[in-house]
Amino acid sequence: MLVSKDAPERNRQPLVVGTAAELAAAIEERLVAAASSGSGATLGLVPTMGALHSGHESLVATAREHNDVLVVSIFVNELQFNDTADFERYPRTLDADVEILARAGADIVFAPPVHEIYPGGRPLVKLDSGELGSKFEGASRPGHFDGMLAVVAKLLHLAMAPASCPVPVKYRAYFGQKDAQQLVLINRLVKDLNYPVDVCSVPIVRTADGLALSSRNQFLTPEQAEAALVIYRTMDMIKGRAENHEPLFLDDVVELFDREPLVELDYFELVDPDTLVELAFNCRDTPFTGEGLLLVAAQVGNVRLIDNMPLGY
Ligand code: PAJ
Repeated sequence: MLVSKDAPERNRQPLVVGTAAELAAAIEERLVAAASSGSGATLGLVPTMGALHSGHESLVATAREHNDVLVVSIFVNELQFNDTADFERYPRTLDADVEILARAGADIVFAPPVHEIYPGGRPLVKLDSGELGSKFEGASRPGHFDGMLAVVAKLLHLAMAPASCPVPVKYRAYFGQKDAQQLVLINRLVKDLNYPVDVCSVPIVRTADGLALSSRNQFLTPEQAEAALVIYRTMDMIKGRAENHEPLFLDDVVELFDREPLVELDYFELVDPDTLVELAFNCRDTPFTGEGLLLVAAQVGNVRLIDNMPLGY
């Protein structure tokens, strides 16, 4: 078999590191090696909380394709859990995750202990996700987005090329469109605080019948997973209306959710994709125009499911 010299090595165990110093050294070493041809090098970061599934793998595959050096972080960030029980039962599967990342061609896995990320406990200086962070998911999960920003701000710093790195580096970080509100907030974080990183977004990966993959789906019974398909069905129905430039009549979806007693709808909104401001004028009886993003959240047993679908683009 002919193997291209430039093809990334697959199935090679990534280097697993737990400290910021080890991470910086490993990143620099690999960037220098990648840039040995004389030009600069590219560095990709995929932040995760582990329990990896095909949604994460899609981010890793995209980042692998576009970058010389690929770092994946795995850290279950307590600060973004507003519910202690949810934090405690969050799946932790490091060995299986590293196997997946070996197959996906990651170079470095950063899996730090809590004290490496938050030495001395919770940070004193905090990021505030503002108005945007207190609606939709933020309304149901107070503090979630502040905690998410706290860790993403750190991870973006920690996985940056160290100042000592002698080669020019292009730095990219990869996030899923699955968490639309998170993505908008991370874009604002990077813009507001001038992070030298390109934020790249990757489409949602779903099961064949439409359920968006999530690490928490493993807590759904088969009946709950089946009932949860109402989320995709209703979004798809509204998307069909949008494509035909018909009125969306968003209120219709409530009736469809009412027929699924296992699923409790939290919100089903049409918003501006960049600002997440509600587009009320497009929701009712006038023909749909322009662009929008459907945002949905529902509770199924003790699992919260979120999903979204772009309309008009
Ligand atoms: P986690 O839920 O592990 O997700 C890591 C990344 O995978 C996120 O960018 C998320 O949007 C993406 N992702 C999850 N499910 C996906 C799917 N079905 N299709 C495509 N992408 C998907 O999101 C977090 O972790 C955390 O908040 C984090 C950013 C790591 C900060 O702690």
